[in-house]
Amino acid sequence: MKVAVLGSGDVAKTLAGGFLKHGHEVILGTRNPAKLADWAAKNAKVRVAHFAGAAKFGELIVLAVKGTAAADALRLAGPDNLAGKAVIDATNPIADFPPLNGVLRFYTTHDDSLMERLQREFTDSRFVKAFNTVGHALMVNPQFKEGKPTMFICGNDEAAKKTVKQILDQFSWETADMGKAESARAIEPLCMLWCLPGFQRNEWSHAFKLLRQ
Ligand SMILES: NC(=O)c1ccc[n+]([C@@H]2O[C@H](COP(=O)([O-])OP(=O)(O)OC[C@H]3O[C@@H](n4cnc5c(N)ncnc54)[C@H](OP(=O)(O)O)[C@@H]3O)[C@@H](O)[C@H]2O)c1
Repeated sequence: MKVAVLGSGDVAKTLAGGFLKHGHEVILGTRNPAKLADWAAKNAKVRVAHFAGAAKFGELIVLAVKGTAAADALRLAGPDNLAGKAVIDATNPIADFPPLNGVLRFYTTHDDSLMERLQREFTDSRFVKAFNTVGHALMVNPQFKEGKPTMFICGNDEAAKKTVKQILDQFSWETADMGKAESARAIEPLCMLWCLPGFQRNEWSHAFKLLRQ
């Protein structure tokens, strides 16, 4: 697929590398392509463009920007360039305050989520929450002796979720579909739980697994 990864941070770079590894065509979107010149030189197969150019190119969009800037990044990408497309939403609504005893602060409530806000504004796009509950270093084909970890996903569009499941299969994740967009209210805070061992004990090498009887 032609994949547009919107973002220039650790998540965007890692996922871009993952899509490339699995044979996809990748373009990275940023406000400032020049700042990625060094990275682009070392990753010559990934093109770098402004948000809008990247979004126009992508058949599948990956949103990997700061949570507070997610809507702005999508506005810059252009609703028309995103219309009809599946958008993998890896963002978390982390507030600009330090964690409290290792607990991240969110700017959303239990009755709302960042992904719902984005889905409400960009009605023609098909958002699927994924990749927000694990650190970037473990996103692509992580190895655990207990087997594949679980990626919790949700979204309103079944076809978009099917596409994301295929990507997660390639990236060595088991997919657990948790339902419609509202389920992001539960999936986004899992990032708080995931980060606790990290902030408290500098342990960052775990992932969630859903066990079933
Ligand atoms: N780091 C992780 O391991 C991890 C794991 C799971 C989920 N996440 C989530 O994934 C997302 C990306 O995390 P990250 O650590 O890779 O990067 P980040 O530092 O959270 O975000 C960097 C990106 O945000 C964009 N950005 C910042 N302010 C902006 C604005 N005013 N308008 C438009 N874009 C703006 C930057 O755009 P420019 O390129 O234009 O500067 C850059 O692409 C976050 O929502 C984070 O919570 C992170």
